Amino acid sequence: MRAGAAAAREPVVTIDGPAGAGKGTVARRLAGRLGYRLLDTGAMYRALAWSVARAGLPAADTPALRAHLAGADVGLEGDRVLVDGRDVTDEIRTPEIAALTSRLSTLGVVRDKVTPLQRALAAPGGVVLEGRDTGTVVCPEAEVKFFLDAALDVRARRRQAEFRARGVEVDFEVARSEIAARDVQDSTRALAPLRKADDAIVIDTTALSVEQVVARMQETVERRRGSCREPAKRP
Ligand code: DC
Repeated sequence: MRAGAAAAREPVVTIDGPAGAGKGTVARRLAGRLGYRLLDTGAMYRALAWSVARAGLPAADTPALRAHLAGADVGLEGDRVLVDGRDVTDEIRTPEIAALTSRLSTLGVVRDKVTPLQRALAAPGGVVLEGRDTGTVVCPEAEVKFFLDAALDVRARRRQAEFRARGVEVDFEVARSEIAARDVQDSTRALAPLRKADDAIVIDTTALSVEQVVARMQETVERRRGSCREPAKRP
C-alpha cells in the first residue's frame, strides 16, 4: 500500500441484501452520520428501467435496447435520481418498475453500463453503497462490507409500510409474493447475483430497530476508519 494517498482515504462501505432488509433506511442514516456520500445503486438500475419502459422496449437484449442504453444518461444528484436530466426520483418507486428492474438487471448489457459508473463514484472513498452486488462485484476491495437480511414476512410488512407512507395501499400477500419473486430473480441470475461477500458482516434485522442496526454498523466503520486514515502527526 502506498503510504500517503491511500492511507488518507476514507473507507468504502458496502451494504447488500434482499429487498426489504432495511438497506435503504440504514444506508441513508449511516452515510449521514459518517458524512459520507450515499450511492443507492438500485436507484440507478430503476432509473434505467424507467427509461426503457418509457421507450416502450421489452426487457430483452436487443439492438434497440443496446441503442437505448448507449444514449441514456443516468445520474445521482444528492438525493435525486436523474435520467437525461429529468428528475425521476418518485416515479421509479413503483411495484411495476421494481419488477422490470429486477428483470433488466439480469442482462449483461445493463450491468456493463451501470457498474463502471458506480465504481467511478465510489473511487474517492468516503462512500456508502447500497444494493445487491456492491461488495461482491462493484467494490470487491471495499474496506467494510455488510450483508443485511430479515425474515420474508417482516420484509413484506416493511415494504407495505413504505408504500403506505406514500399513500399507496398494497395488500400484504401481494407485497410478500412480489418480494419473494424478486428474491428468486435477484439471487439466481447468472450475472452478479445477490449473495453475501465472503468477508461481509451479516446483520439479521428481523428483530432490530433501525437505530440498533445503524449503531452497530457505525461502530464497525469507525473502528476500520482508524486503520484506513493517516496516523496523527507527532508534534
Ligand atoms: O434495491 P432496489 O429495490 O431499489 O433494487 C431494484 C432492483 O435492482 C433489484 O430487484 C435488483 C436490481 N439491483 C441490482 O441488480 N444490483 C444492485 N446493485 C442493486 C439493485
